[in-house]
Amino acid sequence: MRIDIISVVPELLNSPFQASILKRAISKGLVEIKVHNLRDYAVKSYDQVDDYQYGGGSGMVLMIEPIEKCINQLKEDRNYDEIIYMTPDGERFDQKMANRLSLHKNIILLCGHYKGVDQRVRDHFITREISIGDYVLSGGELGALVVSDAVIRLIPGVLGNQDSALTDSFQDDLLAPPIYTRPAEYKGMKVPEVLRSGNFAKIDEWREEQAEKNTQKRRPDLMDDEC
Ligand code: ADE
Repeated sequence: MRIDIISVVPELLNSPFQASILKRAISKGLVEIKVHNLRDYAVKSYDQVDDYQYGGGSGMVLMIEPIEKCINQLKEDRNYDEIIYMTPDGERFDQKMANRLSLHKNIILLCGHYKGVDQRVRDHFITREISIGDYVLSGGELGALVVSDAVIRLIPGVLGNQDSALTDSFQDDLLAPPIYTRPAEYKGMKVPEVLRSGNFAKIDEWREEQAEKNTQKRRPDLMDDEC
């Protein structure tokens, strides 16, 4: 899979890809991440990428021309399954969307900044708009990182143990059960006996029960979800 991220602050997008699981996924060749500085596509006559809003109002707007130039240059080399704009008024990102996106070959994530992008970009070049939650960030970069991380860890071979992505919270509309590691007892706090019993049928049953209890208590809305 290849993810192209377009941003006016590309430096925000470096370090998360240089550590841990994402770094390993890149070095194994399972995913390719390319960050593009929108300023490299600045309109020559203005040497800028943003401008004031028509009609007045505070905040700058990212211009259509640099964005179109950048997207067109990328599209010359490959087809994209989705050209996604990160925005607080987009469709809410969730595990199901991450699962679907992880099946794609090439996607573009366009990060808004300042007030956002000229509406004509959204109307003509964007195939999907994603929000990572009901709050406003300073730009789409953190959202693009959240989406990239959630998607990349689902690509086969990225996680050492393939089961591990499938048993994540939300994969079956249930939160994950509690987990423990050594020591078996710490200052009187004990690991549940069943997990140390070696009886894997019982352990599975306990985990299922705990996942249901957890979900009922913290996120009952997930259990009502039909789809
Ligand atoms: N840009 C600003 N806020 C955002 C959000 N909540 N989700 C995605 N992109 C954003």
